[in-house]
Amino acid sequence: MRNHQITRLADRPDAVDIVARWDFEEWGTGPEEVSLEVTRRRFACWATDGGIPCAYVAVVDDEVCGSASLVDHDMSDPPESTEDLRPWLSGVYVKPERRKTGLGAALVEAVEKAASNLHHPRLYLYTGPVTAVKFYAPMGWEKILSPRYEGKEVVVMQKVLAVEKAST
Ligand SMILES: CC(C)(COP(=O)(O)OP(=O)(O)OC[C@H]1O[C@@H](n2cnc3c(N)ncnc32)[C@H](O)[C@@H]1OP(=O)(O)O)[C@@H](O)C(=O)NCCC(=O)NCCS
Repeated sequence: MRNHQITRLADRPDAVDIVARWDFEEWGTGPEEVSLEVTRRRFACWATDGGIPCAYVAVVDDEVCGSASLVDHDMSDPPESTEDLRPWLSGVYVKPERRKTGLGAALVEAVEKAASNLHHPRLYLYTGPVTAVKFYAPMGWEKILSPRYEGKEVVVMQKVLAVEKAST
């Protein structure tokens, strides 16, 4: 999509509530009054000036339309096979009416670039099997593990970042 911009959530503090609501509605568990507030506080902490953690937003014509974050680890109770993997791409989300215009890919690229600029050779994520194949694989992400997490089989993927490619 033309006219979009990817910026740090810290540059759009007005969007913390909306990003928290998206996250809660897509992935939240537990009662709304508790879980939404916990999620809101998490994004307020991730509204940093860079580094890890850092949340990013996609902006189109001044409207915040999506979000993705760079975090140390994206699993609260990680399976042993993923414990040492760092850092992670977390919570890629585009509001439904703005999907399929490239914003999701732009958010992923921005987080990849941020990790690469911090000299991380690899970035990790977990997702469901369909999103792994349809969304992430075409962007060069490869499946490395399929552990059980929170009662479901998930796909753990890695992206080898430009920092390492350049030195090989
Ligand atoms: C996944 C998501 C971020 C993609 O955002 P987007 O802005 O539509 O992404 P893009 O426009 O860059 O790319 C969309 C492409 O991915 C495909 N895609 C994305 N998720 C898909 C899914 N779950 N199943 C099938 N295809 C999917 C689309 O079909 C489209 O392919 P096309 O270009 O060949 O038509 C968005 O669908 C979303 O927010 N989903 C809910 C949250 C989610 O599942 N996040 C990722 C899990 S970690």
